[in-house]
Amino acid sequence: MSSLVWWRDAVIYQVYPRSFADADGDGMGDLRGITSRLDHLAELGVDALWMSPFYPSPQHDAGYDVADYRDVDPRFGTLEDFDALVAAAKARGLRVVVDLVPNHTSSDHAWFKAALEAGPGSQARERYHFRKGLGPDGELPPNGWQSVFGGPAWTRVPDGEWYLHLFDTSQPDLNWDLAEVRQMFVDVLRFWLDRGVDGFRVDVAHGLIKESGLPDWTEAQVPITSPGAEHRTPPMWDQDGVHDIYREWRRVLDSYDGDRMMVGEAWVSPAERMARYIRPDEMHQAFNFSYLMAPWTAAEQRTAITDSIAGVAPVGAVCTWVLSNHDVVRHASRLGFELGHSTQGGIGVGDPQPDEALGLRRARAATMLMLSLPGSAYLYQGEELGLPEHTTLPDGERQDPTWFRSKHEVRGRDGCRVPVPWQQDAPSFGFGPGAASWLPQPADWGRFAADAERGVPGSTLSLYTEALRLRRSYELGRGVLEWNDGDDLVDFRNGGIRVITNFGQVPAPLPPGEVLLASGDLAADGSLPPDTTAWIRA
Ligand code: NOJ
Repeated sequence: MSSLVWWRDAVIYQVYPRSFADADGDGMGDLRGITSRLDHLAELGVDALWMSPFYPSPQHDAGYDVADYRDVDPRFGTLEDFDALVAAAKARGLRVVVDLVPNHTSSDHAWFKAALEAGPGSQARERYHFRKGLGPDGELPPNGWQSVFGGPAWTRVPDGEWYLHLFDTSQPDLNWDLAEVRQMFVDVLRFWLDRGVDGFRVDVAHGLIKESGLPDWTEAQVPITSPGAEHRTPPMWDQDGVHDIYREWRRVLDSYDGDRMMVGEAWVSPAERMARYIRPDEMHQAFNFSYLMAPWTAAEQRTAITDSIAGVAPVGAVCTWVLSNHDVVRHASRLGFELGHSTQGGIGVGDPQPDEALGLRRARAATMLMLSLPGSAYLYQGEELGLPEHTTLPDGERQDPTWFRSKHEVRGRDGCRVPVPWQQDAPSFGFGPGAASWLPQPADWGRFAADAERGVPGSTLSLYTEALRLRRSYELGRGVLEWNDGDDLVDFRNGGIRVITNFGQVPAPLPPGEVLLASGDLAADGSLPPDTTAWIRA
């Protein structure tokens, strides 16, 4: 493997197709919409885009319920639109990563329909986890496993059997012990590799294999701990067998030219368990959710950064960094709360509201810190505009299955999925030709529109663009950190740049040197205000 492979320091921009840009005016984003906005990504200066699922799907979990892995949902366009998108991206020097959802299919997938039709004991049911229930008439679920979205992880079908779904009832888990299932996904990989994709983001990468016999587990769904520690590994997560799958996929990717890559979504801790997914013959990267969840204090951020770097070192992999995605409260809102306030269930009308100015200030500081770190960084659409969460979305508009399965206890993830504002004075702020969008945008979002920020000094869009330019020219993604002490500061040197973030309550003096970029205005005496990051020429 060359040390110059593109993904080792890439900045990868997540496009959520439903909400990026709507070319056909149906209120939902589409592939032609994405293609029409690629110049924005090229000007921003990212290396690649990763698209969340656009495959045929009943959309019960916003496309993470795939009914056909080798096509495009008519809502999003056609395979020709996909090819045109890839060509337009390549023409702008952008790589394309697609989402792969192997843990479960949609209940609309031909395999699941066949399983329902074929009945108990059939070959077709082998592809999933069908079981008899407990109790005299099998009226109780086969075990106590809970769905990540709330409620039991089992649903009963009319003939009395139950099937396993770790997520929504419309997302039956596949049986990865079956060679046929493995072969299908190898074919799917090849299908998209042949169409020119540069990589895959692997959904629920820690979930595919279940402990044999499906032993009971009644605890809530929590991030896991290592075996031998206080808790045993939950029987549905991080089983050793998953690694054989990724080794096989790696061989497939390596048989193609052009450094194709895989990044795993694996909610696994501690770092040594996570590192197993990115051994040299498995995936290339895994999302660093410990970093995303690290509290906003100097000590916690420093620990998250140094532990992350140390965690991947033994396997020779690169770190990834991420602050926002389609499953968490946007960091411009998450950081606008007092320390210790959890936003895990989302934010809605009637919930405590974030301090918007504080959130944005910290978000800009956090992003500049993140973009100064060695490895690969992931951005989520709209964060370059300083977009906050929609924190007052009316409950009646919610679409996330979490909201329904938790019986309206968990607000869910709709607030970070609201369509992007492109133009301040246009219907749906330029998201599409019409006024409608599948989730309503807050009325005042014109102030975050891309055209209101482009070229405006000090705007969040200008900050991201400049940070990405400097990151590239100083090769920060390939650097090594040399740490300085400082109680309320994160302070290190990465090659030619000294990076300082002030987590304290009072301004901190800056060392001599030219301030190349700062996330907010410096104090009149040139010191660094609280919740601000500066990059100084070292
Ligand atoms: C993780 C995805 O990011 C999330 O959006 C989805 O709901 C679950 N996996 C289930 O596929």
